[in-house]
Amino acid sequence: MSNRTLYIVVCGAPLASRTADGVKAARANGWDPYVIPTEAALPWLADQDLGNAPVITGNRTPDQPKRTPPPDAVAVVPTTFNTLNAWANGNAHTYALTTLCAALGSRTPTVSVPFAKHDLAGHPAWLASLAVLRYAGVSLIDPHDGSSAKIEPVASGTGGDVAERFEWRWALDLLLT
Ligand SMILES: Cc1cc2nc3c(=O)[nH]c(=O)nc-3n(C[C@H](O)[C@H](O)[C@H](O)COP(=O)(O)O)c2cc1C
Repeated sequence: MSNRTLYIVVCGAPLASRTADGVKAARANGWDPYVIPTEAALPWLADQDLGNAPVITGNRTPDQPKRTPPPDAVAVVPTTFNTLNAWANGNAHTYALTTLCAALGSRTPTVSVPFAKHDLAGHPAWLASLAVLRYAGVSLIDPHDGSSAKIEPVASGTGGDVAERFEWRWALDLLLT
């Protein structure tokens, strides 16, 4: 049986530093991972060995063939304040956002790890967006411990530590069905 396709969408926050671990963990769990970074995530990916996983940035041109098979599942790790709100609002002005909006619209199984400091997470749009995504069936997990009960903001200055302690199995286990 061929592997299932997993899109790993990566946004610009410290947990992007663990993308290579995500690729490895996904492969060990029978997925074929495709990495779809936002522009802001690219600096975090620069020094990582992604094991030749395809990295898809920007829209294809109209005459280019499709670059990926359709996803069986999507993991958005990390999900920034910016992307989470745009996604929940149906804003598709980048390739990563178009991918996320299409996954939501087609009810493709998706797990998201929201990652925002207290100041951003205190903005009223944050809670509203979390509620919209949860209602639409996205599995949201806390970056500190993988809990799906409550999404806690990341304390300022702790982003690197939280990223280091993050376990990819928290996200991938939710996609096993
Ligand atoms: C060092 C650094 C750390 C950042 N950490 C976060 C973060 O934890 N959460 C967040 O929402 N944005 C964070 N940002 C800001 C985002 O990268 C910025 O809002 C960006 O526009 C997000 O774009 P994206 O959603 O397309 O990835 C950080 C930026 C930098 C440079």
